[in-house]
Amino acid sequence: MAVEINLKNLKIQAKEEIEKASDLKELDEIFNKYLGKKGELTLILKSLAQLPKAKRARIGSQANELKSFIQAKTIEKKSSFVKTTEDKEEWLDVTAPGKKLSIGHLHPLTLAARNVGEIFESMGFSVVEGPEIENEWYNFDALNIPKDHPARDQWDTFWLRQNEIKNEKLKIKNGRLLLRTHTSPVQVRYMEKNQPPLRIIVPGNVFRHEATDVSHEFQLYQVEGLMSGKEISVSNFKAVIGEFLQRFFRKEVKIRLRPDFFPFTEPSFDVSISCLVCSGKGCRVCKGTGWVEVAGAGMVHPNVFKNVGLNLKDWRGWAFGFGLDRLAMMKYKINDIRLFRSGDLRFLNQF
Ligand code: FA5
Repeated sequence: MAVEINLKNLKIQAKEEIEKASDLKELDEIFNKYLGKKGELTLILKSLAQLPKAKRARIGSQANELKSFIQAKTIEKKSSFVKTTEDKEEWLDVTAPGKKLSIGHLHPLTLAARNVGEIFESMGFSVVEGPEIENEWYNFDALNIPKDHPARDQWDTFWLRQNEIKNEKLKIKNGRLLLRTHTSPVQVRYMEKNQPPLRIIVPGNVFRHEATDVSHEFQLYQVEGLMSGKEISVSNFKAVIGEFLQRFFRKEVKIRLRPDFFPFTEPSFDVSISCLVCSGKGCRVCKGTGWVEVAGAGMVHPNVFKNVGLNLKDWRGWAFGFGLDRLAMMKYKINDIRLFRSGDLRFLNQF
């Protein structure tokens, strides 16, 4: 009788304790207290053998029933814990304000390059590209800048060691390889394969071995322009760049053409615009002059036509090379060219 009372009490006690358990560790301890190696119920089950036969069957079935009860209760409680943790992980506060996804945006130089492309395309120009690794012939000789010409100093660049070039296709016979100093070599490359009349622009990176300051970089972006035909003159050039600059800046800008020298154009011009960073008052970008040089230009030199197999008697042409970084500086009022490639997010996030 005493064992039966004990079993009843154990059931009430175990039920209460299991229900109150606050975590898995506590639940394990309770389980072991009853059904562990030396648990209270385990000991009762072990002692069954000593009971008289008649009693053994009755007490045995009650003890086994209690064992199943404790096991079932423990499993039930365990699953309630797992559910609570899962619920916590999956819980979603639909009223919380959403996290704003930050989407990327175009670099100011890309924005400017696309804008330049759109404007010239609408004026009938095609966009053409050329290699950044160039050879001496296209970068200099074909543009009427022979070896030892002083103009080569003006365009000092980064030379590539021939024996370090793995790609056979790049090992061209035409002199040493270099990082192109301007986009002008593409004039030659294009005219070798295409007869005038033609209108192209050539956007691309160029490289110069020179010290940097607020308006000079050693890697910059240029946009070459070439228009060639039978009756092409400086007036066409002035009209086209006037239209381009007005549309690019979305306002009338003051343009200044001054005589300059480039071996591949004759006559040659320096194209400057009134500084838009300081509205022409004078600042460190325009070096206090109120003007910023944005392009070199001129009428295509007869020797360039000759080098691509064209006869000057038949064709005329003009060409320009805009510094896109400088144009973007003017458009967005940026007072240091080095900001473009600095990777500074405080600068880039403004676009
Ligand atoms: C040239 O590169 C000539 N190829 C331009 C040309 C093309 C002349 C066709 C005639 C016919 P220049 O070195 O001046 O010229 O460079 C052209 C423009 O690139 C400059 O007006 C300026 O806007 C920009 N530029 C030149 N050097 C730098 C530099 N280090 N940093 C930033 N912009 C530069």
